[in-house]
Amino acid sequence: MTTNKLFPQINGLLHGGDYNPEQWLDSPDILEKDIKLMKQANINCVTLGVFSWSVHEPVEGQINLDWLSDIMDNLYSNGIYTILATPTGARPAWLDAKYPSAMRCDDKGVRNHHGVRHNHCMQSPEFREKVNIIDTALAKRFAGHPGLLMWHISNELSGYCYCDTCRKKFQEWLADRYDHDIDKLNKAWWTTFWSHRFNSFDQIDPPYSNGENCVLGLNLDWKRFSTWSATDFMRFEIDTLRAAGATEPTTTNFMEMFYDYDYWYMSKFIDVISWDNYPEMHNSWQSDAHQLLERSFNHALFRSMKKDQPFMMMESAPGLVNWRPYNKYRRPGVHKLISMQAIATGSDTVQYFQIRKSRGSSEQWHGAVIDHIGTNDTRIFKEVAALGSDLKNISEVAGSISNNKVAILFDWDNRWAIDDAWALSNETKNFDKTCMSIYNEFMSLGVEPDIISSDMDWDDYKIICAPMLYVLHDGIGAKISDFVNAGGQFMATYFTGYVNKDLLANLGGFPGDGLSDVFGLRSEEIDTLYPEDKNSIQILDKLGRASHSVEVYDYQEMLRDVSADVLAKFGDDYIAGLPAITRNSYGDGNAYYVACRTNQSDIEFLYREMLDKASIDYKKLPSNIEKHSRFTDDCRYDFYLNCSKSPVTIPNIYGLELITGKQIDGDLSMDGYDAIVIKNSL
Ligand code: GAL
Repeated sequence: MTTNKLFPQINGLLHGGDYNPEQWLDSPDILEKDIKLMKQANINCVTLGVFSWSVHEPVEGQINLDWLSDIMDNLYSNGIYTILATPTGARPAWLDAKYPSAMRCDDKGVRNHHGVRHNHCMQSPEFREKVNIIDTALAKRFAGHPGLLMWHISNELSGYCYCDTCRKKFQEWLADRYDHDIDKLNKAWWTTFWSHRFNSFDQIDPPYSNGENCVLGLNLDWKRFSTWSATDFMRFEIDTLRAAGATEPTTTNFMEMFYDYDYWYMSKFIDVISWDNYPEMHNSWQSDAHQLLERSFNHALFRSMKKDQPFMMMESAPGLVNWRPYNKYRRPGVHKLISMQAIATGSDTVQYFQIRKSRGSSEQWHGAVIDHIGTNDTRIFKEVAALGSDLKNISEVAGSISNNKVAILFDWDNRWAIDDAWALSNETKNFDKTCMSIYNEFMSLGVEPDIISSDMDWDDYKIICAPMLYVLHDGIGAKISDFVNAGGQFMATYFTGYVNKDLLANLGGFPGDGLSDVFGLRSEEIDTLYPEDKNSIQILDKLGRASHSVEVYDYQEMLRDVSADVLAKFGDDYIAGLPAITRNSYGDGNAYYVACRTNQSDIEFLYREMLDKASIDYKKLPSNIEKHSRFTDDCRYDFYLNCSKSPVTIPNIYGLELITGKQIDGDLSMDGYDAIVIKNSL
């Protein structure tokens, strides 16, 4: 394991965020004060230019970047580095007025009016020409600037465009995917059903909301195409910067549990993964600890996209956001917890939106490091500054990485396909939640999983859980078989292996693609329960006697041809007595199948068994505690996060606590919402 520092210029972790000095160019006193306050807040880096196009180029062709150059120079001379954004997240009015093709069309094909942001057509040639001009000017002026750390491509790329250009691009993309053979597409999309056959690619529309949106293959390919289109746009911007001489690393800021695009694909084309983290703390439906576990899952997802290097938390809110139905302030101490959770899970940065609160318009009440009062004595400023000082104390963790042996499989097209399938209940499909509940169960045992895709390399893992793996990509049946054969523990659930990558049902029994042999069973029926329906399963002891019973809700499968060992049986309903949880010893490993939905904590025995078989150490943590570890060649850094406001003591903890410099020798006492880093040599 080698430390992999993202930014060799910085001796430690990044602390900073989006800064919009272009809103204050007529107030040099404010700009001067900002630098002083940033230094007091221990900020060493800002993101500039995210929404600056109309200042960079107020009139078409009249580009002036002197203001930015002055700001960057001044920041750098004060020890503050810059992440420089391309400004394509929002367009100046002149651009849309002259080149309407830059404006996206909605899902009925109707062109938007000018305004808002994140709504450009990714394929518009006129828009790209203007992007090329501004990005080239930025790269020519700032590539190689000693204060420039990296390039931030656009902002939170998202959404679909249904314009004519995109419709044609979609047709070309399909022709390419199906080898210019319309019958191949007809077969894959099963278009003889409802007489949906096409004669040529140019008959195919995007899934307009008032058009063809019942062909499931079309819906799925549209999402794949839109992923390609956004990635193509992002790559166009990166290529433009490179062609103009930029050599610094690139990123684009991803979003939590993002649905529109397949991030596994997009992430291949950027150098560093970053994402924007906005926890919904202190809400009325979920404990803080549970909300933070959702964050932790997201951090793990983004970390796993490039797990040999740290990732970046590119945005987070100092204090509060202003776009939720209820915008509640974070309670004292929570800022540290949320920020340290990012570092604990593998981020080398704590970045905010925003450094200074804007004076007007829609984000004027969004949290910021510097509030309208403009002083260094607000509660939020003080918490940010204290965090900055904590980050300095733990700067040696920069570059360290995780080393997890458990993974959860999370494919974007599987997610989309489950939601689009006319099956189960749309109210309770809950694929994301199911993945998170498995993650949470491992976390409660002090074992941190990575989140992976079917197509990634699985060599580092000893346990893989693939809940609801409805879609099997080509070759995945064999990959699972090889993994188990070689000694891996693989867990699947109800709704596994029903369709291939084209969404065509696997014939000959589920799970398909050879997996019935690996699991030693077939699933004949998947039954959807009404919310008020419950079944149960009886967990069996080693002698096959029922030991205790666990509730089943939402889904249950009737299995047949079961040659696997039975670990639990259904307790009731028409499937009473049939296998519910099984283990098939296969080669050197085991393939587990859970044929119903239960609370994961109710089947903890299964997790313990998999961990035992994989020889992975685990220790049940006190409730509301998260543990994460990062490694260098010589050291392990264990982070303990107290995700509730009650103090807690964790026994048997030894090592140097990095934030306070105290040696811990047994009992680790933590205040409510505290975060602690323990260093040990390997
Ligand atoms: C992000 C966005 C920022 C800002 C922030 C507010 O999604 O990238 O520009 O709007 O939300 O929370």
